[in-house]
Amino acid sequence: MAKVRSYYAEGGLSAAFYDVVTAGDPTLAGDIDLYAALAPPGGEVLELGAGSGRVAQGLAERGLTVTGIDLSAAMLARAEVRRAGLPPEVAARIALKRGDMTALDLKRTFDAVLCPFFTLAHVPAGAAWKNTFATAARHLPSGGLAAFHLPKLEVMRGLPPVDPARPVFDQPLPDGGRLRLFVKERAFREPPGRLEQVVEYVVFDPAGRPLQRSPERLTYWMADPEPLAAAAGLLRDRPPQDLGGAGDVWVFRKP
Ligand SMILES: C[S@@+](CC[C@H](N)C(=O)[O-])C[C@H]1O[C@@H](n2cnc3c(N)ncnc32)[C@H](O)[C@@H]1O
Repeated sequence: MAKVRSYYAEGGLSAAFYDVVTAGDPTLAGDIDLYAALAPPGGEVLELGAGSGRVAQGLAERGLTVTGIDLSAAMLARAEVRRAGLPPEVAARIALKRGDMTALDLKRTFDAVLCPFFTLAHVPAGAAWKNTFATAARHLPSGGLAAFHLPKLEVMRGLPPVDPARPVFDQPLPDGGRLRLFVKERAFREPPGRLEQVVEYVVFDPAGRPLQRSPERLTYWMADPEPLAAAAGLLRDRPPQDLGGAGDVWVFRKP
């Protein structure tokens, strides 16, 4: 197997094909409406781990102003391309910045802070989670809401053994080729609750020959977020809300 990269790294295929893979993902259905409802109409939100701008675009189209932060230059480059293709009044409502959500201080507050699609699970459940909750608290006024979409422990723990030869995703590409994803390795470690996977992205040409391969390491850390959020000054606002069966959206409030 070729050298294993981390997910969303420069030159990797997870960043290049992020939008293709998430486009029809039923486990994300409705997430943007759920996030939009946490800010007042026309309000300002901070998105931690904005990635390729999937959520930022949807929020800006709904009239919200979004500051999106991400650690990955490759993902931010995709978000900039996306923004450049939007109507000017929508694009003007999106600002993108490189930054680490575990140590961010923009010296201002927002109406809401959002951390969609398992982004918090990309960093270790412990100090990094607590520091990310502190980032959210720092950027909220009293009464402001922060939402974190986290994978369900029981779903991640119960994933079936891998069949490395069977694609878990197979989609035609505009040039007549295909993108296929294969899970090459999977392990669930507990405690504390960590799913470790190597996912190989393979691009095939129209004749079915593999053109590009990129094995990438994807790790999800899991824990009860409530005590770590409380230690950072955020209280649970409501019961966690199921999203598509694979994860829950946890909403916290700054007292
Ligand atoms: C699954 S993507 C989510 C992208 C987007 N929010 C969405 O919902 O489509 C996770 C993103 O979190 C980013 N990320 C991971 N760790 C981060 C950190 N410490 N600070 C900022 N971004 C981070 C990754 O680079 C990646 O773009």
